[in-house]
Amino acid sequence: MTHGHDFDQRYAETRRPFRADPAGPDPSLVELAGQLPAGRALDLGAGEGRNSLFLARLGWRVTAVDLSGVALSRLAAEAARERLAVETVVGDIGQYLAGASRFDLVVWSYLHPAPEERARLLAAASAAVAPGGHLFLAGHHLDSLGRAGPPHAARLYTEASLDGAFPGLETLRLERRQQPAGDGGGPLVDVVAWASRPEGSRP
Ligand SMILES: C[S@@+](CC[C@H](N)C(=O)[O-])C[C@H]1O[C@@H](n2cnc3c(N)ncnc32)[C@H](O)[C@@H]1O
Repeated sequence: MTHGHDFDQRYAETRRPFRADPAGPDPSLVELAGQLPAGRALDLGAGEGRNSLFLARLGWRVTAVDLSGVALSRLAAEAARERLAVETVVGDIGQYLAGASRFDLVVWSYLHPAPEERARLLAAASAAVAPGGHLFLAGHHLDSLGRAGPPHAARLYTEASLDGAFPGLETLRLERRQQPAGDGGGPLVDVVAWASRPEGSRP
């Protein structure tokens, strides 16, 4: 996976360096959060925190983890300005998840590790979902290769690549989503997944 230093450089050069990502919260996360009571959320690879800030404004207590201290300092500054309950953790999500407690909502938004690493990290992210809690995933679809996301087919998502990717969780939604592109071309394609851990089950 790319090192924190590389991400730091990209964030230091410009705000919102990942141009394909909209500035506001993910629209499917907005839809999911609208159905849930506020609780504890974990935003993996939170970046500058568009999703963390959205959840915290709804009353969620958010832990935001990212390799980039530059991105998280922007998030922390905005959270402090608005007096929001956001804790920032600079570090690798794999290391964080190894010792993580359980969360009511785990957010995986536009993270694109290599497939073996992805399987391991998604299993760890799933294990961090509390009974009754949810995991949310959004990422670039393989059909957007060359237009959005990393230029490696294997790192992009298909519906099939996420089938069975959330051990112990029940998949509630797994679908393609189109979003307008800023490059004048046709719409970009994403994959969105929601999964939940049944109440009363053990992580
Ligand atoms: C494309 S950005 C997405 C940011 C945010 N989740 C969003 O949707 O706007 C990917 C982020 O993941 C972070 N990242 C990538 N690999 C990571 C890892 N192994 N551990 C922690 N953060 C990571 C990067 O620093 C970057 O901020």
